[in-house]
Amino acid sequence: MIASGNSRNDPFESSNQIAAAPLESIVCTQALRNRPSRSPEYEKETRALAALARALADSPRTILQTLADKVFEMLNADSAGLSLLTKDEKRFYWAAVAGAWRPHVGADAPRNFGPCGDVLDHNSPMLFAHWERRYPYLSWVMPLADEGLLVPFYVNGKAVGTIWAVAHGNRRKFDAEDLRLLESMSRFASAAYQSVQSIETLKVEVAAREKAETALQELTDGLEIPVRVRTEELEQRNKEVKQLQEQLYKENIVLREEIDKASMFEELVGSSEPLRKVLLQVAKVAPTESTVLITGETGTGKELIARSIHKRSRRFSRAFVSVNCAAIPYSLIASELFGHEKGAFTGAVQRRLGRFELAEGGTIFLDEIGDLPEDSQHTLLRVLQEREFERVGGSGPIHMNVRVIAATNHNLEVAIADGTFRADLFYRLNVFPLEVPALRERRTDIPMLVEYFIHRYAKRAGKKIRGISKETSNLLQSYDWPGNIRELQNVIERAVIVSDSDILSIDEQWLSGRAFRPPAVTSPHTSAPATHEKDIIEAALSESKGRVAGPFGAAARLGVPSSTLESKIKVMKINKRPFKEA
Ligand SMILES: Nc1ncnc2c1ncn2[C@@H]1O[C@H](COP(=O)(O)OP(=O)(O)OP(=O)(O)O)[C@@H](O)[C@H]1O
Ligand SMILES: [Mg+2]
Repeated sequence: MIASGNSRNDPFESSNQIAAAPLESIVCTQALRNRPSRSPEYEKETRALAALARALADSPRTILQTLADKVFEMLNADSAGLSLLTKDEKRFYWAAVAGAWRPHVGADAPRNFGPCGDVLDHNSPMLFAHWERRYPYLSWVMPLADEGLLVPFYVNGKAVGTIWAVAHGNRRKFDAEDLRLLESMSRFASAAYQSVQSIETLKVEVAAREKAETALQELTDGLEIPVRVRTEELEQRNKEVKQLQEQLYKENIVLREEIDKASMFEELVGSSEPLRKVLLQVAKVAPTESTVLITGETGTGKELIARSIHKRSRRFSRAFVSVNCAAIPYSLIASELFGHEKGAFTGAVQRRLGRFELAEGGTIFLDEIGDLPEDSQHTLLRVLQEREFERVGGSGPIHMNVRVIAATNHNLEVAIADGTFRADLFYRLNVFPLEVPALRERRTDIPMLVEYFIHRYAKRAGKKIRGISKETSNLLQSYDWPGNIRELQNVIERAVIVSDSDILSIDEQWLSGRAFRPPAVTSPHTSAPATHEKDIIEAALSESKGRVAGPFGAAARLGVPSSTLESKIKVMKINKRPFKEA
């Protein structure tokens, strides 16, 4: 069983074991059955077990001592206790002791120095009589044991020690009921001890978790500030992005409004046969998705026809975006058509949507397509083929859903022969060609147009004009109208402004010498414009005192759109100031 005191220095640890009596001579377990047994004291047993349960709940650490006390009490023993194997299983120590041997609690001795080793080896309860005959060192542990009853003690199914009761004298002999009680308490203690161990393990786990949580908390605290700073930074960036988006959105709206206000409300006036033919074609092609190429002299109403196609198409509720290719500076064409990203080039301070993107879902009208420079022609061809484009400085293609209508007053076949217009692009655009007849080829439309314009400009000027004089009517009918309807419109506007009577008359001077058809000859992007053309423009500027737009402007005199004339003036480096000052 065990040595008393500090066994390692104890003299009987080295005591001679050679004379030890054989095990059978001291074991009398059989006698338990033969002895008269007292009747079971279940109530007492239950109280003892309840006390153990309480001890476990109140203070799990003292469970073993409570067990020793209860065994001592229940078995009416002289000493009782619990011996446990050390971790290396080489020794036993008295984990808890009650009764006479109480002072020996905590002592330990080698495994084979006492009966505990034999009990564990046999893995069964044993009753011993005078064991000091086999375990000589126990003869030193006073008072001597007359009888000792031991049962194995299990934890998690493994025997780890013994529970024992000792009678030091002849006062009583252990019986079968003592064994039953001891085994019952051993089972209970085993379960209790297991719980204590689980609780200990749990505590270790809880402590480890608490430690980990503390560490995490410290880490989180350390991270909190940088995370907060980063979050604030991100929020700020988000705000900026939002502002930019809003700005872009507004810009977009402004642009659309600007585009739309020139508007879709102008009517196509006229009932001549050539115009009817054109309108019939418009009605046919409008509902399709086909690309349309509108040709015709300047001022014949190509843009009006394009708008009319859009109005009659399924895209009518979406944007109609008109681009005058001749009026955009050469270097800005790509950015204007396809947009650019912020920083794509000097001056690109923010992202800008191009005309193609603005026209998404709608129609883009590429006016003066014949004036598109070579490389832009190439890009446009790719865009039309792939239905995709890229913003200048952009990193990926943008798919487009835009119907293309192009117009020109150039003869593109001649331009192809001259090498200034790509044949492949021409065939891409020329899916559905529409030629708008010149005004001189549909003179029957003139009276109706005159009436329409008088009405419009008189209203605008707040004048009452009933009609035109016979001479004026003859004049308007016989004139060739090189600037077509735009020229007629300008002449009427001018006449309404200067008119003092309710019958409009026109100064013949306004019509003479206007056989000029500038865009048909050169483009503003051509590097060597005809000096002849420059002279004509300067002469018109001189007449208009440097003004380009308006009914008295040079554009009206020349019968060309003011945007086209402006860009020509820029390309030809014509200074308007001397004309204004003259
Ligand atoms: N049939 C028409 N009825 C009423 N107004 C017209 C008609 N045709 C043209 N106009 C008007 O004449 C002007 C010139 O028309 P538009 O700009 O469509 O011509 P264009 O062929 O595109 O000219 P350019 O080749 O010079 O660009 C516009 O103000 C337009 O409203
Ligand atoms: Mg036009």
